[in-house]
Amino acid sequence: MTGARFRIEVMHGVNLNMLGARDPLYYGTLTLADLDAQVVAWATELGLEASCFQTNAESEYIERLHALRGHADGVILNPGSWTHYAYSIHDALELTGLPAVEVHLSDVQAREPWRRLSVIGELCLATYSGKGPEGYRLALECLREALDEA
Ligand code: DQA
Repeated sequence: MTGARFRIEVMHGVNLNMLGARDPLYYGTLTLADLDAQVVAWATELGLEASCFQTNAESEYIERLHALRGHADGVILNPGSWTHYAYSIHDALELTGLPAVEVHLSDVQAREPWRRLSVIGELCLATYSGKGPEGYRLALECLREALDEA
């Protein structure tokens, strides 16, 4: 690819700032800063420009999604537990019109039943769950392919 790199927004939701202190069985030992550094490095290797965002406030997450129009080419979302019930995030993601990929560090299908529902899944090109940080790399690759084909 020549010219401007695709801009990817990586949006971590509630409690993901606590990575490193959360149950390592599900979430590993990386801190959010470690994870973001890894994601930015992977993005650069793929010719993408990633910027990472985290908030514990659902309204801020939604406002960030509103602000993406015209400022990002694709979005990776791990909304944490909002995934399972926050239809406001579904609607805000739909409004962006952007290609989106859902990521979960843990395997949400193999945990409590309430984690099996994703309110954003139907809007996403793919969902990577239970692959740890690698899920973000797969999400970047998926977006890179989709954007190249668009
Ligand atoms: C999570 C899975 C969610 O069920 C949970 O509430 C999280 C993190 C994950 O990355 O595995 O906070 O999204």
